Amino acid sequence: MSERDAVRRIYLDHTATTPLDPRVLQAMLPYFENTFGNASSIHAFGREAKNALERARGTIASAIGALPGEVVFTSGGTESDNLAIVGAWRAGRKRGRTGVVTDAAEHHAVLDTCERLREDGGAVSVVGVDSNGSVDPLEVASAMSGTTALVSVMHANNEVGTINRVGDVAEAAHRAGAMVHTDAVQSFGKIAVRADDLAVDLLSLSAHKLYGPKGIGALYIRRGTGIEPLMTGGGQEKGRRPGTENVALAAGFARAVELAMELMEVESERLSVLRDDFERALCDRFPCLLVNGHPACRLPHILNVSVNSAKVLLEGEMLVPNLDLEGIAVTSGSACSSGSMQPSHVLLAMGRDLDTARATVRFSFGRENTREDVAETLERVSKLLGRMIAH
Ligand SMILES: Cc1ncc(COP(=O)(O)O)c(C=O)c1O
Repeated sequence: MSERDAVRRIYLDHTATTPLDPRVLQAMLPYFENTFGNASSIHAFGREAKNALERARGTIASAIGALPGEVVFTSGGTESDNLAIVGAWRAGRKRGRTGVVTDAAEHHAVLDTCERLREDGGAVSVVGVDSNGSVDPLEVASAMSGTTALVSVMHANNEVGTINRVGDVAEAAHRAGAMVHTDAVQSFGKIAVRADDLAVDLLSLSAHKLYGPKGIGALYIRRGTGIEPLMTGGGQEKGRRPGTENVALAAGFARAVELAMELMEVESERLSVLRDDFERALCDRFPCLLVNGHPACRLPHILNVSVNSAKVLLEGEMLVPNLDLEGIAVTSGSACSSGSMQPSHVLLAMGRDLDTARATVRFSFGRENTREDVAETLERVSKLLGRMIAH
């Protein structure tokens, strides 16, 4: 019997990635089979590819309330974050602005990119978050100065799901003459993401978090926002991101976005009910569990819970491998870095102690999850926690 047959596996890690929607695959196939032209070629083959690329751009732009020319295709969320931060910072440096303000709960694609700017003379300020993982716009405002080039605050956190008041951050940043970037990789497709409502200049997206293909994302660059490209080459994407465009992935990304927009309201409501029921039942059974993230301003599909370190009988890091043995795929509150388990910087920034951060599990629900999956998960998780927690 294969490992797969032994136990029905339940995937609850949609924040890490989502399965490809079969309708997305269908939308991509023609561009792997027949429509192979280079979108920069001026002949009929090229024009066909270019038309498909521009249709995809239009779909993504309209989903965030942007103009097609404000959307640049990238290889994913990581590249979008890099292009936004480094590109804006280099543009700011030319105007004598070398400061960047961000916060301690950002994804590493933002945090490490900001850190790297220090090597080039960047002045990087990292503001803290509160115990819910929220960024206080007033704290961001007080970390800014007349030489701040860019403020980068994520829309929703990938570990705990907390949604930030990006519009308020943006207002303060613009008053100080800085550009504003937000990483909307996790919020896009779950809650409304509109560039104008968030009032940002730069906004990162990724396809594989919303049932699209891996390896493609987009950066929204508000009209009139000058950023420096990271790469040089052909003039694709109006010179902002050179390299032959991946039309198949762009078509898949656009189809995924269409579906996400169609389903978002109903699906987000359904997932929040599943998540809330699961959270309630689990916390009733194990009152020592601590729920991480904002109680109300939180993405609908994420539940991040820690076992209070005083109550854990085993190594906290063993939770996720043990759940994997039970057929439940989730993410832990630690990340493997250079061969050792590092507790999540987000949970530490929220004030959790090291051992509690290590004894953390993130459940993230998705389109294919049913009530039965949740009931089954509750039983399997309870069995494991019953062995791991002191009563
Ligand atoms: C908030 C956030 N930003 C950026 C990324 C990176 O996106 P990608 O995997 O498309 O490079 C992720 C992926 O986990 C994320 O959750």
